Amino acid sequence: MQELALADVAAYRAYLEFYPAEWEVLDGMCHITISRFYRDKGVFDFLARQVLPEIVRMALERGEKTLRCWSAGCASGEDPYTLALLWQLHLKPRFPDLAMRIVATDADAAMFKRAELACYR
Ligand SMILES: C[S@@+](CC[C@H](N)C(=O)[O-])C[C@H]1O[C@@H](n2cnc3c(N)ncnc32)[C@H](O)[C@@H]1O
Repeated sequence: MQELALADVAAYRAYLEFYPAEWEVLDGMCHITISRFYRDKGVFDFLARQVLPEIVRMALERGEKTLRCWSAGCASGEDPYTLALLWQLHLKPRFPDLAMRIVATDADAAMFKRAELACYR
């Protein structure tokens, strides 16, 4: 509202009705796009120690050759790449007969472009 020099929410509501393209701008501002490698260490530890080994065993019992994972809401990609690191460092050496394939998606196109670039500090 400040950027558009609008006085209040009612004025912004009217602006949205007059300029429908603004909905996309507003939607973009409603996404929380925070992401970091190993963002929630406890969760990733639990994934590496318990969840992944268990589903790997289930997959192998079913004769699967690939374990497919979906990072839904990957933001700039740190989540799926952390998962790939867990796989490479902890699980692949233990389960060499299984491959991991990760699909990552995000509703925010700009965030997803950063994920595709995969360039991090
Ligand atoms: C807080 S970030 C979390 C990023 C990452 N998963 C992490 O934990 O580090 C949430 C992401 O979910 C995405 N998102 C929210 N709703 C979505 C939807 N319906 N479909 C796909 N992505 C969505 C947002 O664009 C945002 O990038």
